Amino acid sequence: MLELYSLKKSFGQVNAVDDVTVTIEAGQMVGIIGRSGAGKSTLLRLVNRLIEPTNGSILFNGRDITKLWGRDLRLWRASCAMIFQQFNLVERMDVLTNVLIGRVAHQGPLSTVARRFREEERALAVQALDRLDLLSQALQKAGTLSGGQQQRVAIAKALVQRPEIMLADEPIASLDPANATRVMDALRKINREDGITVLVNLHTLDTARTYCDRIIAMRAGRIVFEGLPAELTRERLQAIYGIDGSDFELDESVTSTAIAPLTTSQSRQKTMA
Ligand SMILES: Nc1ncnc2c1ncn2[C@@H]1O[C@H](COP(=O)(O)OP(=O)(O)OP(=O)(O)O)[C@@H](O)[C@H]1O
Ligand SMILES: [Mg+2]
Repeated sequence: MLELYSLKKSFGQVNAVDDVTVTIEAGQMVGIIGRSGAGKSTLLRLVNRLIEPTNGSILFNGRDITKLWGRDLRLWRASCAMIFQQFNLVERMDVLTNVLIGRVAHQGPLSTVARRFREEERALAVQALDRLDLLSQALQKAGTLSGGQQQRVAIAKALVQRPEIMLADEPIASLDPANATRVMDALRKINREDGITVLVNLHTLDTARTYCDRIIAMRAGRIVFEGLPAELTRERLQAIYGIDGSDFELDESVTSTAIAPLTTSQSRQKTMA
């Protein structure tokens, strides 16, 4: 169980995350939605301690992870794997090596290149690739794969970390709808089969509704809704965001019903309030 209490992160005058208190039950898949600048990425970065909170605490199974440092902090970071919009793979290395890099987080700051991976680590990586239907690409350079395949490699890499939580920051924002579906399916599969808690930032409410057990909606650093997807009615949406559609990006100017293939910069421009 992940518990956030009065969590706050300020950057100068901006309260990126502002007094957030919420509990995420173990094994749930939780979608975080909100416009650009709402604080979604900052929230995930606080959880895996990429940034330090200005105030508040983060408890995981009762332990305050904001107090961890040294080896304990490294182990915590390994147990909450991050997935990013831009995949973060080493493009010139093959897929298998990229996945094995996920083990380094677990083992310590040894040079990946100099390091020889053990047989069982290789077996773990191969198994993860197989689960994500990527075995035949194992020896291909990561940069030659499609975006959707690269994101699934990133998920395989996260899996071999043996995480307890997976933090995915807009994992499908750069993908076309077909690849987006495969990536979201993969996230849900590992959530269901491995019991890994998934916290996923999404721009599209529809995706959150389809895949997530619960939805958290943020606005200006604050949680403005937390509950079951079915509870996020058109009326609530209207109250929160001033829109009544439920199937498009959280932006009045976007009317497409698809997962809009916007680039981040386009998306930012469009969603700037
Ligand atoms: N390192 C930083 N320095 C200064 N301000 C920051 C920093 N990181 C985030 N912010 C600010 O905090 C606010 C929340 O940013 P955040 O990236 O968490 O939003 P977001 O919901 O992830 O947006 P997006 O959908 O565009 O990714 C924004 O106003 C942003 O400009
Ligand atoms: Mg973000």
